[in-house]
Amino acid sequence: MQAATPWWQSATIYHIYPRSFQDSNGDGVGDLPGINARLDYLVELGVDALWLSPIYPSPMADFGYDVSDFTDIHPLFGNLADFEVLIREAHARDLRVILDYIPNHSSDRHPWFQASRASRDDPRRDWYLWRDPAPDGGPPNNWLSQFGGPAWTLDQLTGQYYYHAYLREQPDLNWRNPEVREAMFQVLRFWLERGVDGFRLDAFRRLVKDAGYRDEPPNPEYCPGVDNPAKQLLSIYTTEQPELFDIVQDMRRLADDYGERVLIGELYLPIERLMPFYGTPEAPGIQLPGNFHLLMRPWETTALADLIREYEAALPAHGWPNWVLGNHDNHRIASKLGPAQARVAAMLLLTLRGTPTLYYGDELGMQDVLIPPHRVQDPWELNVPGQGFGRDPERTPMQWTDGIHAGFSRVEPWLPVAADAHRINVESERADSHSMLNLHRCLLWLRRQETALSLGAIDTVRTEGACLCYRRVANGRRLLVALNLSDTEAQVSLGAGRGRILLSTHLDREDAVAGMVRLRGDEGVVVALR
Ligand code: NOJ
Repeated sequence: MQAATPWWQSATIYHIYPRSFQDSNGDGVGDLPGINARLDYLVELGVDALWLSPIYPSPMADFGYDVSDFTDIHPLFGNLADFEVLIREAHARDLRVILDYIPNHSSDRHPWFQASRASRDDPRRDWYLWRDPAPDGGPPNNWLSQFGGPAWTLDQLTGQYYYHAYLREQPDLNWRNPEVREAMFQVLRFWLERGVDGFRLDAFRRLVKDAGYRDEPPNPEYCPGVDNPAKQLLSIYTTEQPELFDIVQDMRRLADDYGERVLIGELYLPIERLMPFYGTPEAPGIQLPGNFHLLMRPWETTALADLIREYEAALPAHGWPNWVLGNHDNHRIASKLGPAQARVAAMLLLTLRGTPTLYYGDELGMQDVLIPPHRVQDPWELNVPGQGFGRDPERTPMQWTDGIHAGFSRVEPWLPVAADAHRINVESERADSHSMLNLHRCLLWLRRQETALSLGAIDTVRTEGACLCYRRVANGRRLLVALNLSDTEAQVSLGAGRGRILLSTHLDREDAVAGMVRLRGDEGVVVALR
């Protein structure tokens, strides 16, 4: 019998960057046995699912997002037997496992691309996007790579250009070709049959490109020196093409054949353009089109209240919300807001309506790490240096202990460990009853206790001075969340209402309140209203 609500609605997803979670074999890079050894920590934390960034064989030009075999494990991370153990051990602890699936492109070393590039007549030629040079010998059109420069590379062997939305080492697959679709669907089946509970779909809006390869128009809002240079053009012919939505439905049907598996789209899109990815009740799309707006909006009461209201209003009746506060492509929340306000942000993430994704280490208050130039790894930083696009700072080793290399590895890790790891680490924070880690444990515990938080409605989203407030409601239970976004005292009116504080971000009060709640600077509270 299926549960009334699917597991992924009440779940909290924990995003692991496998290279940086736990090294078990002393090569300075995290691996599957390392993750396996830390599953009990995830249980203790109180999350429900882990999402792993790519673990497939890869030359690592883009740290695993350049896949050379979609149905195996990179030896750096282990092998398929290690993966089986991970699935078994995770499931034994009621933890679900979500894999990153990279449908848009492969590595240039993938046998498919090797065949495709070998000759114009190869049966796999049409598996990728090949075009003749422009009359002047240059690229076929003006499309740009997300990582700098043109999105076309000339392959001398056959005299044609191939398209790559990212690095030249990441040629885009041709999803208009039915053989490609079938081969990539087989990849999904391969992992579903091995027990994975869902996929995060990388670069999902890019799968299909304009059949006429038209030039993209300039973006009038482009801000040189601030925006990614790829934003010079409006990507109207390289993303969200109508044919994409057939693939969305096909993927959903495929996943549904295996029971309750979840599909999460990586979609950096305005709210209204996320909604088509939900499909309709008759022809459903993916369950969780990724909502990255908390990463992009200013940290300001009105902006956040508007965001919550706009997003909630835009969702179709069958659509379930989701929220993300950090990931491997964005600077860490504790660096953006500071440690005190990061606690308020944690309360926001874990009390909003919808499935939250928590990025590894954010539960400790890990900060971005300054990477010395000789240790830069990220190709984006190497291609477009010095403009803050580099993603190494938010990908540094998990801080487990105050010992050598923060307990991540016994050798120097692939990226430097934070200088504050002696203070910000699992071991020390476990022992400190007021730590960020314990705040997360309390929030996650409360979320499980209170249906109003996990599955309830959200209403009366409003601002009061420096505070953002909303209610979560289920079965007559009413919880008020009040978040002080400033570092000075504030108060929130309860009108004639009264209640009791269930949790403060300061982890030091459970007082009764009547008429109003006083909040200290950088304090958030959850109040059970009577
Ligand atoms: C989005 C991923 O999150 C990012 O890390 C990667 O570089 C690109 N897609 C290309 O796959």
